[in-house]
Amino acid sequence: MFWAWMLATLARCQAACPAPLAEGAPSGDEIINACAQAASHAIQSAWADVPVLPADTLASRCVAMSEDLLGLTFGESACLCPEACAIILTMQGLTAELESTARCTQTLLLLVRAYGFLGESEPAWASPADGGLGELVYARREQCAKVRRVEIERLRLPRSQPFAKRGGLKGCSQASRSVAVLVAATPNQIHTYQPFLNLWRCYAVRHGISFILETDDTEVSPPHHRAPNWLRWFSAKKFLNYYEALLVVDPDQFVVPECWNVSIPAVLGAWAGGIFGAPDVATRDFGKPQTLNNGVVFIRSSPRGHFFLDLLLEKASWMQNIEKDQGAFDETVLEVLGLEAAARGEAGYDSECAQYIWPNAKGNHEIALYALCWWRTSERLAGQFGARRSSFLRFADPRLVDVNHVVGARGLSEPAVLHHFAGRSKDWDFMLETFGMARRNTGNCQRVFEHVDSRAAVQRCIPGGPPVMECEPPMLVC
Ligand SMILES: *[C@@H]1O[C@H](CO)[C@@H](O)[C@H](O)[C@H]1NC(C)=O
Repeated sequence: MFWAWMLATLARCQAACPAPLAEGAPSGDEIINACAQAASHAIQSAWADVPVLPADTLASRCVAMSEDLLGLTFGESACLCPEACAIILTMQGLTAELESTARCTQTLLLLVRAYGFLGESEPAWASPADGGLGELVYARREQCAKVRRVEIERLRLPRSQPFAKRGGLKGCSQASRSVAVLVAATPNQIHTYQPFLNLWRCYAVRHGISFILETDDTEVSPPHHRAPNWLRWFSAKKFLNYYEALLVVDPDQFVVPECWNVSIPAVLGAWAGGIFGAPDVATRDFGKPQTLNNGVVFIRSSPRGHFFLDLLLEKASWMQNIEKDQGAFDETVLEVLGLEAAARGEAGYDSECAQYIWPNAKGNHEIALYALCWWRTSERLAGQFGARRSSFLRFADPRLVDVNHVVGARGLSEPAVLHHFAGRSKDWDFMLETFGMARRNTGNCQRVFEHVDSRAAVQRCIPGGPPVMECEPPMLVC
């Protein structure tokens, strides 16, 4: 008994926070004494799915206080009193209205951060009988997915535009519209990217298509908190109206020299019609154990092409998406396939996978859980890898033509039209070496064409091959 009392007292002493959290702010102890009870009540209300009553004066005082002090919990310096900061974040996270997915993910971030401040030792207020703060994070993720489901239910899939009406026939300005390669680079990266930008430009010249290099990084600069990866999608939205279609690509890729005569827009269905239909969005297909990669994406300037981009860009305001824009892209694919399935009269998509786009209580992303959900759902909605049935999205089969080969364990030995050095710390010099040209020569398309044509003269382009069957250990998903 005595020892238990001693230990409890010691723990209290360690948790004491007599100093004000900031100049003029209450001390940590004052916050804990005044609001731990209210935070506990807020957690219980969240479990019971009832609102924290604003009429409750204690709760409303603590909500107001937490609003004033929220900035301190995100400061550069660590919070002076972790438990008090957890209370502030909990009050803010649990009292906000969840009117949109974006808003919901903001509250999720607050709760993850609150839980992070508490570490292993959840104090009594944070773990009332019904369930603690940690489990509440998981519940909130599911709630955010439900908010998304409601948003999706309000959407209508735009009608598919008959191919004959697309482009071409409506007068001069329409007739001159073309496909453009779009690549985005933030100014600080241009020197690094330059040789690969040069190659993309020459590739566009060879195929008689336009070339757009976006360097205006306004959309990914403060006050926005967005990864630079988002830049190409914002640019695509800006330019889509002025072209027949865009081929959105990355600078960490190149078309394999002996395959330069293969037109990637053609492979993805830019000029298709007839039996192949004409997809509004097209990308390489990925099956287990690989996850989707959005490094090469074709988007048609059609109502459905715009619709896809809008659904994707909406997610730039969600917090903490898995793999930055990639998770948002994958989820948009499911949403569109779901709307298409529903339009066929089949069961649609209930945003089940969305919860795994966001971090768990520890702040970690669960990539494998998302991938499992994505594979299962995409198969249900559109069929298996290599045999998807969607008239909106084309998934190009890499066994025939691989237009986005993510270079993995077996390096460059796998046949493909395009090599993508995604993820991993990149060795840009090595990339250029494998392409086979010196940096200074890449700016001259005549030299580039000489290089690729001489390579093609001795080496046949093998455009596709067997897909990855196993990831590089210890990864189960790649
Ligand atoms: C590729 O296209 C160029 C230009 O159209 C042509 O000169 C060259 O012979 C072609 N190469 C191959 C391997 O088909």
